[in-house]
Amino acid sequence: MLEQEANVGGSTRRLPVIAVTMATSRQGIGVVKELSKTNKYQIRAITRNIKSTKALELGSLANVELVKGDLMDPESLSRAFDGVDAIFGNTTPTKGWKVFRGSIVRSYEMKQGFNLINQVKVAYKKRRLNHFIFSSISKAKDPLKNDPAPGHFTSKWDIEEYIERCDLKEITTVLRPVSYFENFENKLPGYTISKRIFPGIVNENFKWQTIAVEDIGKWVRGVLSKPEKYKNQSINIAGEELTGLEMAMTLQRLVPSEGLQTNYVMIPRVAMKIIEYDIGVMADWIERTGYGADMNKLKLIQTDLNIVPTSLKDWLKRKLVEQNKTKSSWTRQWKSYQWKLQWDK
Ligand SMILES: NC(=O)c1ccc[n+]([C@@H]2O[C@H](COP(=O)([O-])OP(=O)(O)OC[C@H]3O[C@@H](n4cnc5c(N)ncnc54)[C@H](OP(=O)(O)O)[C@@H]3O)[C@@H](O)[C@H]2O)c1
Repeated sequence: MLEQEANVGGSTRRLPVIAVTMATSRQGIGVVKELSKTNKYQIRAITRNIKSTKALELGSLANVELVKGDLMDPESLSRAFDGVDAIFGNTTPTKGWKVFRGSIVRSYEMKQGFNLINQVKVAYKKRRLNHFIFSSISKAKDPLKNDPAPGHFTSKWDIEEYIERCDLKEITTVLRPVSYFENFENKLPGYTISKRIFPGIVNENFKWQTIAVEDIGKWVRGVLSKPEKYKNQSINIAGEELTGLEMAMTLQRLVPSEGLQTNYVMIPRVAMKIIEYDIGVMADWIERTGYGADMNKLKLIQTDLNIVPTSLKDWLKRKLVEQNKTKSSWTRQWKSYQWKLQWDK
C-alpha cells in the first residue's frame, strides 16, 4: 500500500497513515473528506467495493487510497490495517430489510465490532498503531432510565466494553454522536423534509440533541491533532439541542418571503415500530432518557480542537441552495430531481 511523503519546512516527512473503516458510509465520507483537506495524513479508505461511485469519488481526493475490506472478514481487515498509525472504526447494524425483522440486526453489528477490535489489537501489537478512534453512539443523560435501550445502541456500548476487555482503552478515543441532521431527509412518504414539513421522531417540545454527520469528521480531525490528550476518553458529541418546534421555526425563518408555514410533524411511533422496530424503541429511549451530550463542556473541547460545529440553520441554508441549483438546471440526474420535488412540496 502507498507510503506518502510531505514537504514540511524543506524536508520530506512520511505522512501518518490513517485507516477509515466503512469509508463510503455517511460518517466515513465525512471523516475521509475532512482528513483529506488537512494534507497531513495518508488516508486508507476501506470499503467492500472499491469500484462503487462513492468509493471512486473518495479515491479522487488528495492523499486517499481505496482499500478493500469487509468488517465481517477479519483477514481483509488485517491486510487493510497493516502499517497504519491510527484507525477510525465504525460498525453498522443495517443488514438489509426483511418482513418481521426490519434491517437492524444487533448480532450483525456485534460480529463486526469483535472483528474490528481484534484486528485493532493485532495492529497495536505490531507497535505502529498508536491511536484508535471508535465511533459509538451517545449514552444516556439519565442512565437510570436506560432500559429498554435500542439494540443498535447496546451493540455499540458492548463493543466499547470489549475495547476495555482487550486492554485497548489507553489508545482509544470513543466518540459518541447523537442523531444526524441527515435523518430529516428520510424517504418516508409524508414525512420527508420540505419547506412545509419538518419531520421528527420525538415530541415537539422535547429538546433533541442532533449533529451534522460531517461534524464527526471534524471531531476525528480534532482528536487526531491532540492524541495524547484525548486518548482514554469517551465524548458524547452533538451540534445542536433544539425542540422540534424550534427546528421547524429555524427552517421557516429561512423562507419568509414564500409565506409558508413549516410544521413540525412527528412520525407516528406505531408506524416506526412496524417499519423498523428498533428505531421505534430508539425514539422511546431518546424521549425517556435524553442523549447525554454536555453542550457547555463540548464548547470548551471544540475550542481546544478547532472545531466549528455546523448549526442546523447553516445546514438548512446549504440544502436550500443545493435545491435551487437543482431547480435551475435541466441536466440534473433523476435522483437530484426527486430530491428537489421533496423540498418543494
Ligand atoms: N443515523 C443516525 O442518526 C446515527 C447517529 C449516530 C450513530 N449512527 C451510527 O452510525 C453508523 C454508521 O451509519 P451511517 O449512516 O454513517 O452508515 P451508512 O451511510 O448507512 O453506510 C453504511 C455503510 O456500511 C458499509 N458496510 C455495510 N456492511 C459492511 C461490512 N460488513 N463491512 C464493511 N462495511 C460495511 C457499506 O459500505 P460498502 O458497501 O461500500 O462497503 C455502507 O456504505 C451506524 O452504526 C449507525 O447506527 C447513526
